[in-house]
Amino acid sequence: MRKGILMAGGSGTRLYPITQAISKQLLPLYDKPMIYYPLSVLMLSGLRDIALITTPQDQESFKRLIGDGSQWGLNVTWIIQPSPDGLAQAYLLTEDFLEGGPSGMVLGDNVFYGHGFPELLKEANAREVGGTIFGYKVRDPERYGVVGFGADGRATQILEKPIKPPSDFAVTGLYFLDGRAPEWARTLKKSGRGEYEVADLLQLYLEAGDLTVTTMGRGYGWLDTGTHESLLDAGAFVQTLEKRQGLKIGCPEEIAFFNGWITAGDLAELAKPYLKTEYGQYLMRLIE
Ligand code: DAU
Repeated sequence: MRKGILMAGGSGTRLYPITQAISKQLLPLYDKPMIYYPLSVLMLSGLRDIALITTPQDQESFKRLIGDGSQWGLNVTWIIQPSPDGLAQAYLLTEDFLEGGPSGMVLGDNVFYGHGFPELLKEANAREVGGTIFGYKVRDPERYGVVGFGADGRATQILEKPIKPPSDFAVTGLYFLDGRAPEWARTLKKSGRGEYEVADLLQLYLEAGDLTVTTMGRGYGWLDTGTHESLLDAGAFVQTLEKRQGLKIGCPEEIAFFNGWITAGDLAELAKPYLKTEYGQYLMRLIE
């Protein structure tokens, strides 16, 4: 069974002073904490066993929010990353947790939206051998991991923050890898910026001919939360859609309910402390 990894450590220095006393992934994105959005992605993929990786100082706050995950039908394992040594380190920290099996990792500050997204996730989950990543066209690829494509349109390289990007396709923070990830992550050396790069791990999958790069078209939203301005924009985007449709983006209670992981009675219990808010009233409307 594939297990989930949610990477919610990091130093958050690009959002100082906001993130000086609180983890970036706990900041509000309109009506819910940022971490709800990537957690929802794992839940939509059908993953219930989830390792949640945090800094030593922030683990308690995350626990206060999510606990053991059982209220949403999840089984959360808490893991500390002592220092932010890079995303590939997640696979070393979760080696025992994964028990040799495949994983789906999402970064705690990545927000996705789009019609058909759950189907993309399920396809990636069903692919047992190799890895799947998602490319998304952006205006500023140099800020991200970037996919290079050969003449035949196949991915040939994954570069981390290249000065001269080989394409406009950024690698989003969502990685479905098979059981070899920890073993291969162990062979990596730190990059120039002092991190074990997930891009280097993906390059190994690519060289083995085992990486599927799925591109997300213009009907998808992959929102940036990396700067003060983009954080506010992302919140406004969520607000606009939720107000217009009366449907929430990234609501773990809702996904747990529709996945059949919790009952209507459970949902009503979860809504109780929230009834003064629109969020709680939304949960009650789901039951009706
Ligand atoms: O968002 C997608 C991008 O995320 C990818 O395109 C890049 O290839 C990937 O390296 C990463 O780039 P960033 O520079 O945006 O990564 P950042 O250091 O901001 O960390 C992303 C998230 O992961 C953030 O929520 C903090 C967390 N993190 C990061 C590091 C380096 C950890 O939990 N531990 C870490 O060691």
